[in-house]
Amino acid sequence: MCGIVGAVGCRQLRSYLIDGLKTLEYRGYDSSGLAFSHEEAPLIYRIPGRVHLLEEMVPLSLEAGIGIGHTRWATHGAPTETNAHPHISHSGLFTLVHNGVIDNYRALHQMLSDLGYQFNTETDTEVIANLIEHNYKQMGDVLKALRQSMKMLEGSYALVIIHQGDDERLFFAKNHSPLLIGHGPDANFLASDYLPMLKHVKDFYALTDHQFGYISKDEVAVFDLPGNSKAKISYHQTDLTSEDINLEGYPHYMLKEIEEADNVIRHLIDNYHDGRNYLFNPKLLDTITASDQLIFLACGTSYHACLIGKRYLEALGKRVDVYIASEWAYYPVITGKNPLFIIVSQSGETADLIHCVKNIKQYKFPLLTITNTKGSTLDREANFTLLLFAGIEIAVASTKAYVAQVTLLALLAAALKGDSQLIPDLYHVIEALKKVIDMKSKFEKIADFLATKENAFYLGRGFDYDVSLEASLKLKEITYIHSEGLPGGELKHGPIALIDKDTPVIIFVSDSLTALPIRSNLQEVLARGAHVIVISSQSLAKGKDAIVVPDVPVHLSVLPKVMVAQYLAYYTALKRGANIDKPRNLAKSVTVE
Ligand code: AGP
Repeated sequence: MCGIVGAVGCRQLRSYLIDGLKTLEYRGYDSSGLAFSHEEAPLIYRIPGRVHLLEEMVPLSLEAGIGIGHTRWATHGAPTETNAHPHISHSGLFTLVHNGVIDNYRALHQMLSDLGYQFNTETDTEVIANLIEHNYKQMGDVLKALRQSMKMLEGSYALVIIHQGDDERLFFAKNHSPLLIGHGPDANFLASDYLPMLKHVKDFYALTDHQFGYISKDEVAVFDLPGNSKAKISYHQTDLTSEDINLEGYPHYMLKEIEEADNVIRHLIDNYHDGRNYLFNPKLLDTITASDQLIFLACGTSYHACLIGKRYLEALGKRVDVYIASEWAYYPVITGKNPLFIIVSQSGETADLIHCVKNIKQYKFPLLTITNTKGSTLDREANFTLLLFAGIEIAVASTKAYVAQVTLLALLAAALKGDSQLIPDLYHVIEALKKVIDMKSKFEKIADFLATKENAFYLGRGFDYDVSLEASLKLKEITYIHSEGLPGGELKHGPIALIDKDTPVIIFVSDSLTALPIRSNLQEVLARGAHVIVISSQSLAKGKDAIVVPDVPVHLSVLPKVMVAQYLAYYTALKRGANIDKPRNLAKSVTVE
């Protein structure tokens, strides 16, 4: 996902913009750029490369009152210098950066071309710049031009805009893509999230859809599309600190976040249980109880966590369906009369889910959002929100957020059931996770073998099937090894044709109910030459099992098992020299459909 920074009145403008873009690198990008206000025309620096290369282009002595910056994750147009942001309007009146996708950019491009506007790039962003310039030439006022342009734009955008000749104000507009204001005593800031601004300010405002306006060094003016007067805004603080983005001696954020899992579980217990009772909103619990269908919507790792949640809530007799958000967005199926929607999203900004919310709002059914990001779009759109309290997750590959999602869903199910046994069970899991951390050298050894392969399979039954899907996603997204997670029983119905000599097959064994059949599947692949790696629970372990993890209740066994899988992916990627925290082609939060 693209990253945006901007500031007015900041005395260390150059370093704010560059360091700010560096804190946004985890979101994934392929080009970067900066623009600084200047008397004739903004000074622009752009590169189809990393921010540290951009930094070398910008003179240390450069000073300016206003500046904007951008890291681009290519949607329209290849990652080239020409397509890198910032983009400039036809006559140079407006220079801007954009995060999002404009759905009707072709029609607008045609309209503006017919009016004589020239285009130098393939981007939808340049269309926005020319549209604002066109409306400004008609209306003579930037805010009026912005308002008119927002009425004509269809799609998602977070825009930060320099108006040539205005040395006081930096303009912005927001719809669907995140944009926050950071308010300081003698400078004001804009950014895609808190990180770039943490060192400069403590007061933040998360713009809502269809808001626009400007910041100057001592003023923040926010307007809503319908109204004419300034919107009343209230600032909030964040418990994030720049420490949160500190690697604390780890080589990669992913390893740090894998090993934060025990604290994640502790924070959730602290936030959702007071030692005697669960601390969930009674209205939420009543809504769940009264609903005749629970519909989970999510993507990727969060989707895999929903599969676990489905089992937890079905065990209470609830009817539960889980859909991949990008599918349900276009094929919305609702079979219950009074369903509750449950959206699970670490970032709270995933575009596929924001699309689903539009459908849900039409039906007016209640929505619970489970997210790690307070103030995110999906948090704000929900009737109920349950926060994951996992701390910022920077590595693109989600690890501790999955642990948090599964744990929170277990706590929610236990609260509905009135089951107090879960709390001691979770402390038991925490102890098990510590033992898994102590096994790192074993994972490194297995990774030596995995790193030489181009295909791999994860197998399991029940909870172990669900965790196989997540294990497989982890492996493929950071090692680029093609991997599949399969139900053990499904192998014979086709995929076993792919098993060849030394094909890696990693098998989870956590449940006595299916230990026998899954070990039969093991024999089937072994007989065809596979290289089998068994990850089993202590009480079900057999002599040749590669990894044996401490016993925990079966419904919580996914937590130690997924940690093993996260480590295997991490060490295999390390041995393959992959970019672990920022895998190719991926973004931390997918804010485009
Ligand atoms: C997980 O490792 C991936 N980075 C990706 O699948 C991610 O889980 C997915 O994009 C959903 O993101 P969200 O939880 O922020 O909505």
